[in-house]
Amino acid sequence: MKGFHVILALPHAIRAASEGADGIVVSGSESGGLRSVGSESSTMVRVPLVADHVKIPVVAAGGIADRRGYRAALALGAQGVQIGTRFIASEEAPAPQVWKEAILACGDGGTTLVPLKNMKMRVIPNKKLVDLSADPNVDLSEEYNLMNAPKGWMSGDFDLFPAGAGQGAALIKEVKPVKAIIDEMVS
Ligand SMILES: Cc1cc2nc3c(=O)[nH]c(=O)nc-3n(C[C@H](O)[C@H](O)[C@H](O)COP(=O)(O)O)c2cc1C
Repeated sequence: MKGFHVILALPHAIRAASEGADGIVVSGSESGGLRSVGSESSTMVRVPLVADHVKIPVVAAGGIADRRGYRAALALGAQGVQIGTRFIASEEAPAPQVWKEAILACGDGGTTLVPLKNMKMRVIPNKKLVDLSADPNVDLSEEYNLMNAPKGWMSGDFDLFPAGAGQGAALIKEVKPVKAIIDEMVS
């Protein structure tokens, strides 16, 4: 088995490589999922930065949703890509329809970072999140418990936890079979 370490900062990539990781998944700030509480670099910056500093294979993650993103990742020095959001909006994904529709409806700047305990999560805001964010007395890290994310997402109850997605959601306009997504990407 090969071990690829996911990193959210250059020093972690250098450390993982020196400790014997077989490869590095370089996740840029566009990515869906958990994010660092620190200031982050985009995939466009972080992938070549890490590729310049490690000799092991680099996998780019974050914002890759079509052929252009895939080719860009390779041009930036990655040997492969890790994709999340584009596959949620696939026919095979067990995500409820309402989650897939939220991704299709997501436009430019349509995601935000929800602060959690010691981390952040990139999500598509719904009315509850917008209302809570406008209230200076609300601590979002108290309001949202990461443990509720799987339940909220799989039931489509985004009041429990807002729909997870990366910035690449803005590029996704159709729910397609995984094969069609990959065929378009590598064509
Ligand atoms: C809803 C959601 C949940 C995720 N959960 C995890 C997780 O539990 N562990 C992990 O390593 N990455 C997780 N990720 C990150 C993905 O593995 C991947 O790196 C990321 O989605 C890439 O960015 P993209 O969404 O722009 O394709 C998650 C991503 C999303 C969108």
